[in-house]
Amino acid sequence: MKLTRISILAALAISLASCGNKGDKADMDSYIDNLMSQMTLEEKIGQLNLPPAGDIVTGAPQDSPIGDMASKGQIGGTFNIKGAEKIKALQELAVEKSRMHIPLIVGMDVIHGYETVFPIPLALASSWDMEAIEKSASIAANEATAGGINWTFSPMVDIARDPRWGRVAEGAGEDPYLGSQIAQAMVKGYQGDFSDENVLACIKHFALYGGAEAGRDYNTVDMSRQRMYNEYLPPYKAAVDAGAATLMTSFNIIDGVPATANEWLLQDLLRDQWGFDNLVVTDYASINEMANHGMGNTLENSVRALKAGTDMDMSSNAFVSVLSEALDKGLISEADIDKACRRVLEAKYRLGLFENPYRFNNVEREKTDVYTDEHRAAAREIAAKTFVLLKNDNNTLPIKPQGTIAVIGPLGNTSNNMVGTWSVANPGDKAKTLYEGIKEAAGDKANVVYAKGSNLYADPFVEDAAANGYGGGMRDSRSEDELLAEALRVARGADVILAAVGESVGMSGEGSSRSNLDLPDTQLRLLKALVATSKPVVMLNFAGRPTTMEWEAANIPAIMNVWHGGTEAADAIADVVFGKVSPSGKLTMSIPQNVGQIPVYYNHLNTGRPVPEGTPHFHPFSSNYLDVRNEPRYPFGYGMTYTTFDYSDFALDNNKLSKDGKITASVKVTNKGNVAADEIVQFYTRDMAASLARPVKELKHFDRISLAPGESKVVEFEITPDKLGFYNANGEYLIEPGEFKVMAGPNSRDVQTLDFTLE
Ligand code: BGC
Repeated sequence: MKLTRISILAALAISLASCGNKGDKADMDSYIDNLMSQMTLEEKIGQLNLPPAGDIVTGAPQDSPIGDMASKGQIGGTFNIKGAEKIKALQELAVEKSRMHIPLIVGMDVIHGYETVFPIPLALASSWDMEAIEKSASIAANEATAGGINWTFSPMVDIARDPRWGRVAEGAGEDPYLGSQIAQAMVKGYQGDFSDENVLACIKHFALYGGAEAGRDYNTVDMSRQRMYNEYLPPYKAAVDAGAATLMTSFNIIDGVPATANEWLLQDLLRDQWGFDNLVVTDYASINEMANHGMGNTLENSVRALKAGTDMDMSSNAFVSVLSEALDKGLISEADIDKACRRVLEAKYRLGLFENPYRFNNVEREKTDVYTDEHRAAAREIAAKTFVLLKNDNNTLPIKPQGTIAVIGPLGNTSNNMVGTWSVANPGDKAKTLYEGIKEAAGDKANVVYAKGSNLYADPFVEDAAANGYGGGMRDSRSEDELLAEALRVARGADVILAAVGESVGMSGEGSSRSNLDLPDTQLRLLKALVATSKPVVMLNFAGRPTTMEWEAANIPAIMNVWHGGTEAADAIADVVFGKVSPSGKLTMSIPQNVGQIPVYYNHLNTGRPVPEGTPHFHPFSSNYLDVRNEPRYPFGYGMTYTTFDYSDFALDNNKLSKDGKITASVKVTNKGNVAADEIVQFYTRDMAASLARPVKELKHFDRISLAPGESKVVEFEITPDKLGFYNANGEYLIEPGEFKVMAGPNSRDVQTLDFTLE
């Protein structure tokens, strides 16, 4: 029977929302049964094919291979294509021209915003503000759908403890509990109620990608099961539980097998134990990359991937080229293909594409809903919550808009370095530069001047590599000496210096690992010269990761990590620098003293030979270094503000917790200063005697509170036995009675401690 679009659509007069109840699921199943009964094998395999659009900004799809493939039913969707009209035209080819009229799923790396760009995810995490994070995802979805996108490759929930890895910029940091909360907030924000202003979320990269050896991107991961279950897997699981509609495999191996073809990971753990029955897509060309892992040819690897539970092939062109041969050879069954095809169709069904294939092609919305004043105001407010004040001697910050303010540094007057890695939908030059933002905020009250001061790196080759397709064209034709001389002239005439230094956008993100996390040579030379002028210097550290700052921490009075704060970062930085907003971000990854300490993270195990408390420097035959203490420079959870908070009356309402009971820890937090500010109150626990070695601390609860000057609030943490368990190597969750500690404080280091017993 020749099917028309109308007959397909007529078959569907049902609710297409979340398929949350049985009826919806039954409707979906019968719709898809009917559809698949009419599809040829080639058409089914076509649905498993996800090639990239080839270009992100221009090009007519009708003339491109994508358009041709869409017309022939050879693709299930495409990704990283921008432009509502263009996407609509492409959708028309699939819907009107292909025999089965099946609409396309259209993905994009909408990682921290679309055209309105929010801070990079590591910065967003530093806000510890779940409402703000969810809102950022929801605005991103709203704009992306206005641009014709219906699927985002986000959230990235890979736990990471090695800041050499450039992709720490894309994740939430080192903690599984905080990472899980953030994963859920993002899934909720993206998917909402599956309206036409929501996108499907994609949990990535499953799994353990953040465990790459030596922080080198794409490198080997080798990890014990108990570590996986307790420390790395929780955020993926949390995102699954939040109902994420899709999931992406990772590039790395797990137990020697690439994730994309790892049956234990995708079948036993994800599908069977966690009950995830939704779409699994590979990461970019990861089926092809299996050959480089030493695992044979495309045919073998496609079979492995499909059999393991991968449904959709991103960019390998593998499934589409070999699966029918694999079927002929008896290496797979038609049922294997059907299973994967069904999951692709289910994702489209959830999107409501069968009811209305043009549901995300309201091209008018692109003009009205993208980069709106409202979205930008939200991005500005959220960005200001993400900056982490690391040091502030003599209240150097905030500064007054008066006299002459010098913005100096290679990141002081660039637009494309504000937005951060993976801002593919943003046309790069939309963001105000820091210099522009400060100048505008100061108005006619202060004279704001600028000098570049140095290049990013002395070595043009490294600087070029750091540009990595983003910050290119930054290099100055003047010599380093000339740049420095100009900066010093400007600095000497100023009352205060805002030093805009650190990492360009290309220095973090995918493929941008670093072996040395110091401020690059030329920039450190500039900073030293600026400090030598005796003018007050504020270091605004642009960063996609924790960076080491040995000299800076000892010699610069004020340091604030501003990360890459998105399109509205300049205004947000001005808000904080001038004291309109008090800084409130706290680190979600420890800042190491030097790279030799890496990995350094707060929730480590104690070892059998911990350094005795009170050891001033080094303790022989203990687990420590001769030349540096074990502590990071700035710990997880750390961040200052323009006031001080006092923690008092830390108490437990009972120091015995029964098997089915609950007890409450509470602490009173008081704003002792004279400005209003937010505080992120943190609670940790420690299991003192278990059948497995347990960490010295684990974050279990936090609360972000606002306090007016002099105001106090009591923050509570309800402790129940289920919060005190852990996984063994078989993935069983054990709750064992015994002695525990509960801690409360402003960061993972400065805590007060109480004891209790789980009976
Ligand atoms: C990255 C993914 C991304 C994909 C599509 C890959 O290289 O690892 O995070 O979603 O490309 O752009």
